[in-house]
Amino acid sequence: RKMAASSVLRSGLFNNKVAVVTGGGTGIGRAIAAELLYLETGCKVVIASRKIERLNETAQALSKTIPPSSPAKVTPIQCNIRKEEEVRSLVNSTLELHGRIDFLVNNGGGQFPSPADAISAKGWNAVIETNLTGTFYCCREVYNAWMKDHGGAIVNIVANMWKGFPGMSHTGAARAAVDNLTKSLAIEWASSGVRINSVAPGTIFSETAMANYKEFGPYLFKNSIAQIPAKRLGVPEENSGTRHICYVFSSISSYISGYVCKFNARESCLKLLFSLIDHDRWPCAPEGPNSKAVAELLSKEPKSKL
Ligand code: ADE
Repeated sequence: RKMAASSVLRSGLFNNKVAVVTGGGTGIGRAIAAELLYLETGCKVVIASRKIERLNETAQALSKTIPPSSPAKVTPIQCNIRKEEEVRSLVNSTLELHGRIDFLVNNGGGQFPSPADAISAKGWNAVIETNLTGTFYCCREVYNAWMKDHGGAIVNIVANMWKGFPGMSHTGAARAAVDNLTKSLAIEWASSGVRINSVAPGTIFSETAMANYKEFGPYLFKNSIAQIPAKRLGVPEENSGTRHICYVFSSISSYISGYVCKFNARESCLKLLFSLIDHDRWPCAPEGPNSKAVAELLSKEPKSKL
């Protein structure tokens, strides 16, 4: 039951368009860049991240997928999105190189598993700065330097944090904030013809994510399958919504803004990292007409299951 991860986009769809993908060297970002380059869409893609070696390797590998007749091009530019001036220089370099920026994918981010009470100020700030502040810098710089006058489309990658993100509360808070930022900017920047949406992946397996999560990686990825109705992990080529992002950038989505698309196969992440601890420390329910019935319920084993 293997399904080929091929694109359904038509050739030339993004001829002469320019996209910037942050965190484009690995995992979901790389898959997004690859999708934008597939099938001769003609898109020029700048991939940006902190680690220039991996970025160069990815750019070389992706370049090989572009036929010589296509105007498409992939360019690596080093950028730490936490640094305002580096984001400004990423935007300026892209404009010098290609003369325009039609699409921005804010995919650069990262987090580490930790119970909230053990997150240091340094760890907290790093996650907020990369996922929230970095995304804001990229949006603002691209908008001020180009999209304010010419329009464009932005996609922010968030996470499956809709019911909280126990075990990674810092990234849950940052990504929820990005979702709200998306909605604000969709209204503020509508008058410039800018559409801005978010995409929320579920548990997407990639080797870089595994490496980032260190010894928790196997636990996190393997145990999450129990929470996923599809009973398998997503991979960057599909579940991360890479193809969907191309649709969001195409004219098919010309009336879509401030929207979040969830790619999580209806996964609940509530117990992913954090098993509920059995305890009796919660304040007791007040005595009332249901007290006896509840006590009776708890004293017996239910006879049937759904
Ligand atoms: N990916 C993860 N962290 C990043 C950062 N600080 N800048 C760019 N891409 C990133």
